Amino acid sequence: MDEYFDRITHLLRDKCRLSFTGHKRTILRRRLETRLEQLNLPDFSSYWGFLLANPAEEGNLYDLATTNETSFFRNLDQFLYLKNDIIPCRERQSTAVPRSLRILSAGCSTGEEPYSIAMTLLDAVSCADEWRLEIVAGDLSENCLQVARTGYYDDNRLRKLPREYRERFMVSDAQGATVSDDIKRMVRFIRLNLDDLMKSDCPAWSAGLGYFDIIFCRNVMIYFAPSCQQQLVDTLHQLLLPGGYLFTGDAEPLHLFRHEFVPVAAAGCLIYQKLEKSFNE
Ligand SMILES: C[S@@+](CC[C@H](N)C(=O)[O-])C[C@H]1O[C@@H](n2cnc3c(N)ncnc32)[C@H](O)[C@@H]1O
Repeated sequence: MDEYFDRITHLLRDKCRLSFTGHKRTILRRRLETRLEQLNLPDFSSYWGFLLANPAEEGNLYDLATTNETSFFRNLDQFLYLKNDIIPCRERQSTAVPRSLRILSAGCSTGEEPYSIAMTLLDAVSCADEWRLEIVAGDLSENCLQVARTGYYDDNRLRKLPREYRERFMVSDAQGATVSDDIKRMVRFIRLNLDDLMKSDCPAWSAGLGYFDIIFCRNVMIYFAPSCQQQLVDTLHQLLLPGGYLFTGDAEPLHLFRHEFVPVAAAGCLIYQKLEKSFNE
């Protein structure tokens, strides 16, 4: 029985870099058992056969293999630094209008992260008409992207959204609220497998993504095997413009890796800056 469970975990490792050890393995096993019940299949060997015969099942497997926990303004300090330091600094530096800012939310889950970024940007800039603000938000999970595109969240999921932002950027109903059109227009959701970027010599062009001023890749790396984490750090570095910023999750400090980023000490949270000139130039 474990041989086929192992085949499934190897497929997830090879195709999306996800690693299943310890309790993550137990959680995956439980979720897969539920899927077997739904499909009326007796064991992992028959699920493996089903997977090979039904390519569409791969998407369902990715959905159940990923952990999608997220919230609005998760790690508030990072958003405060973006609002109070990075944006005002960009406004001072670039006087030519329109100014532009491209941000990637890699592993955006159900959309709370990119929408929090969009709200922060609109709050921070002194005149939105003078900016071209683009947020590309990508995730492996189609289920997550579907939720993200609706932009609707119930009150429980809006707990961490400041009241002022809810009033300014959302349209409320009795159970929750929908992100306003102004915010939705700023975010482009795409299906993104980071594995595709990591395999490429030029990740910015492989998926037609281009380069970014800021990348949020938070609480994604922790689900990858350690050897893949190093590769992800290198790929994110390649995707950033010189002087660009990388925001990582609380459990993803870069000192564990070889890298050319400089920690932004003044931020008091995990934000890194790519040097204007790389060591190899
Ligand atoms: C725990 S959530 C983090 C969401 C958000 N970044 C945050 O910090 O609140 C991790 C997300 O990464 C996505 N993910 C995992 N592997 C991925 C991959 N290979 N490519 C793209 N997204 C991936 C999952 O689908 C999930 O939605």
